[in-house]
Amino acid sequence: MGFLRLWFGLFLGFVLMNEMNNIGVEGWSKEGHMMTCKIAQELLVPNAAHVVGMLLPDYANGDLSALCVWPDQIQHWYRYRWSSPLHFIDTPDDACSFDYSRDCHDTHGGKDMCVAGAIKNFTSQLSHYHHGTSDRRYNMTEALLFLSHFMGDIHQPMHVGFTSDEGGNTIDLRWFRHKSNLHHVWDREIILTAAADFYDKDMESLQKAIQANFTHGLWSNDVTTWKDCDDLSACINKYATESINMACKWGYKGVEAGETLSDDYFNSRMPIVMKRIAQGGVRLSMILNRVLGGASSTEDILVAT
Ligand SMILES: *[C@@H]1O[C@H](CO)[C@@H](O)[C@H](O)[C@H]1NC(C)=O
Ligand SMILES: *[C@@H]1O[C@H](CO)[C@@H](O)[C@H](O)[C@H]1NC(C)=O
Ligand SMILES: *[C@@H]1O[C@H](CO)[C@@H](O)[C@H](O)[C@H]1NC(C)=O
Repeated sequence: MGFLRLWFGLFLGFVLMNEMNNIGVEGWSKEGHMMTCKIAQELLVPNAAHVVGMLLPDYANGDLSALCVWPDQIQHWYRYRWSSPLHFIDTPDDACSFDYSRDCHDTHGGKDMCVAGAIKNFTSQLSHYHHGTSDRRYNMTEALLFLSHFMGDIHQPMHVGFTSDEGGNTIDLRWFRHKSNLHHVWDREIILTAAADFYDKDMESLQKAIQANFTHGLWSNDVTTWKDCDDLSACINKYATESINMACKWGYKGVEAGETLSDDYFNSRMPIVMKRIAQGGVRLSMILNRVLGGASSTEDILVAT
């Protein structure tokens, strides 16, 4: 009990610290990841929901979203250094395309070391859950948290950005009245401004509004297409391609370092951010349902890795 408390305290402390010096270099913000994971968890079939419940540590209280930011928190710890290149993809400047064999590597050329490779890796690890693998290299809880987090990241358009500006991280600018950078605008600023302007800063209302738009609104006819997937590798490449296309068309387009982005940029980009959060959540549930939902449907999307 005392040990758990201590652990939880450390965890909370870490979350707070992370909030306070919000560096914003990696991933949807905490808010974006939590919404993606909440959306996904609500779409799980009973078997998959059960397994997710079993894999989550007790202090998460059955809530996947409580731990969806974990991969951001640990990526600089010595033990998890290997995971830091897995949050994004650097594509050649202005190419506006994604090519797995060209782009999915770390700065030392380590193959598969990018967010697309990571999603394959952790999906494949999780698929062993029902196969009862005895492979002790894999920690299923960690695989679940990494997969859930990276499915969010790959849908954040600026996570599949240009190499020289680190996905917009080095493009300093202002968001309304405060200093920010282009990457962070997409990770967090747009989400927080939307929550403040339309939902009284209540993330849950914002999340419900996103869900309403795919259950019976704006995107209700698109959800089936979003979930469509025969071959996981091809699907992941498609998600990354969508992101770099959006990064070019909406992220970088017309933006100069040092300028101030405000209403025009916010109003035109907010719908894209909301859609990407929805897609990330819907597709994460699709993968978890296939891999954890029952033995039969697993192999058909998984390539031999
Ligand atoms: C796959 O996961 C293992 C840890 O389980 C890690 O060592 C390896 O670097 C990962 N590779 C990719 C491409 O994600
Ligand atoms: C799996 O990883 C979690 C989170 O890092 C850790 O708390 C747990 O002890 C690990 N489980 C095993 C069996 O190593
Ligand atoms: C939901 O869809 C409506 C249009 O039907 C749009 O005005 C609104 O911004 C959308 N909300 C979210 C959170 O995506």
